[in-house]
Amino acid sequence: MTGPDFEHFCQLIRARSGLVLTPEKAYLVNSRLGPVARAEGLAGVPELLARLRAGAPEPLIQRCVEAMATHESFFFRDGAPFEQLANRLLPELIEARRAVRTLRIWCAACSSGQEPYSVAMVLQEAGAQLGGWRLEIVATDMSEPILSKARSGLYSDFEVNRGLSEERLKRWFTREGGSWRIAPQLKQMVSFRTHNLLHGVGGLGMFDVIFCRNVLIYFDVAQKRTILAELARSLAPDGALFLGSAETVIGITDAFTLSPAARGLYLPSSARLARSA
Ligand SMILES: C[S@@+](CC[C@H](N)C(=O)[O-])C[C@H]1O[C@@H](n2cnc3c(N)ncnc32)[C@H](O)[C@@H]1O
Repeated sequence: MTGPDFEHFCQLIRARSGLVLTPEKAYLVNSRLGPVARAEGLAGVPELLARLRAGAPEPLIQRCVEAMATHESFFFRDGAPFEQLANRLLPELIEARRAVRTLRIWCAACSSGQEPYSVAMVLQEAGAQLGGWRLEIVATDMSEPILSKARSGLYSDFEVNRGLSEERLKRWFTREGGSWRIAPQLKQMVSFRTHNLLHGVGGLGMFDVIFCRNVLIYFDVAQKRTILAELARSLAPDGALFLGSAETVIGITDAFTLSPAARGLYLPSSARLARSA
């Protein structure tokens, strides 16, 4: 698939979500937009692309942007970031924030909520050390439908069987009909908000730890650089950033330095001399 309608669609998607589409990704456009075209009563994807270029209504544009997003996520994805949070960052931050007894963690591009709820489990499992602290997990995504699933706190058998130990499933979930409901004490720790990473970080405040995983991979270098600069501005000097296992800052920005102790863990470069790496 090529031509002006396809090119217009690539530009539209890049401007709305950051996703970089190339002609080799035409198969993806076809498979993701097929159901949208059918629901619109159109003959196929080429007709939908033509309609978008001719000036489609905003809800239809939104449905197409949403259809192109990949929402893959699971509990304790990759393991190591959550172990690093529990065993390295939390002890450091508990010491450093003893006076204010506040921790703020941001899960950017949180999808269906497994990542922020995994963070909430780690914080709860830290037990008495964090008793009486104000713990806030801000979880954002550009997609309202996926946030609505995250807010529901309901997961299928398939979803709880990806990444959760039996012990955690028993401790933090209850059976409800054919689904599993997350415990209220975890749910109340997470505030879900709509937020597009292309629109800056205004209004979200400062964070001690940021998870921004498995989303930068879809963007071009210029967009990654801009977003990483925004993340650096939102992170405490002694804070930490987690990226996905296929993501890096190397060749993109000097704002963060990879921690030699852990893959995927980045420290603000401004603070690297002041703390043990
Ligand atoms: C593959 S999921 C990653 C979920 C989770 N962080 C993880 O690693 O398991 C990517 C998410 O990024 C979101 N996303 C894509 N572009 C975005 C943007 N420009 N701003 C905010 N979220 C975006 C998608 O809606 C999707 O839910």
